[in-house]
Amino acid sequence: MNELILAIETSCDETAASVFSSEKGVLSNVLHSQISLHKQFGGVVPELASRSHIEKIGPIVQEALQKAGVTLDDITAFAVTNKPGLPGSLMIGTCFAKALAGATGKKIIPINHLEGHAFSANIEHNIPFPFLCITASGGHTSMYYITGFGEYTTIATTTDDAAGEAFDKIAKLLGIGYPGGPLVEKRAASLNFEDFYNYPRGKNTTLDFSFSGLKTAVLYDMVKRGAYDLQAKKLLDDSEELKNKVSSSLQVCIANIFVQKVIMAFKEYPQSKALAFVGGVACNKYIRAQLLTATQRLSIPFFVPHPQYCTDNAAMIAFVANYKLAQGQEGSLTFDIL
Ligand code: KG4
Ligand code: ZN
Repeated sequence: MNELILAIETSCDETAASVFSSEKGVLSNVLHSQISLHKQFGGVVPELASRSHIEKIGPIVQEALQKAGVTLDDITAFAVTNKPGLPGSLMIGTCFAKALAGATGKKIIPINHLEGHAFSANIEHNIPFPFLCITASGGHTSMYYITGFGEYTTIATTTDDAAGEAFDKIAKLLGIGYPGGPLVEKRAASLNFEDFYNYPRGKNTTLDFSFSGLKTAVLYDMVKRGAYDLQAKKLLDDSEELKNKVSSSLQVCIANIFVQKVIMAFKEYPQSKALAFVGGVACNKYIRAQLLTATQRLSIPFFVPHPQYCTDNAAMIAFVANYKLAQGQEGSLTFDIL
């Protein structure tokens, strides 16, 4: 059956909606980012996130329909992110989508946010199975071995912080703004991605990631250099030079960690035919370039989604819903957010 799916994504700090046609692909992909709301706190404040979602969800859904040139009557199925995420934020999206499905009598299917990211590079690319996928965002860092649509095994996660979280927390420490990733990258580029401080890359005994040690290493390295006062929790060296050097060294270190893990993963999963790099951190051009070089050495094709499909979006939720419907998944009005 030809489906016209309206998908909603509100798991964190983006209110997003997308209309997806099983014949033509993504017809619209709109979102409202709450970055300006959370910026002053250096991270997402859950209560503020929920309140912003409730305000924006109606207009965003209307805009998605309008941009796709369709009406609610044309929609054949609804899809919504039901986990994982901030409970208050997930509640807004799921309740809104359930209300639409209940009122129109159309089916609705819940989608796991991480499955959305894992297949986000497939929206525009024909990736050969099986392939390896790294999802790196503000909340998650995982690696999957993907054998088909909806068929995947988690082969690595982070034992503590996510990669995006490391960028964000260290940016907060340096007082350079939020979200940290793009700001660190810009400062690193100004110093030509030179590695000044050679931060520890961590143990490379398993595929799992760990980024909290890196944050501590950066902090203690700054204390050692007399640039940070641990007791007063205050930056003592507020110079652009220090901020740029830390950013550049951090950027190179995180890219190296990804390259090391990828080389290890292809040794453990030699039947893998490609690598995908997805999630907000996949917007990072330096990490992309390093991973491209590493995969070229392995003669493996490398895929990254367009930046609009890297950060949180509803098109990836619609894409997953589309193959699940094609695989015969039934709708339900009784799913939970856990
Ligand atoms: O996927 P996303 O929008 O939301 C989550 O699901 O978390 O990812 C947001 C994360 C933030 O931590 C942000 O710092 C990071 O992605 N990010 C980047 C870049 N752009 C966004 N990290 C590194 N380099 C970037 N250019
Ligand atoms: Zn995400």
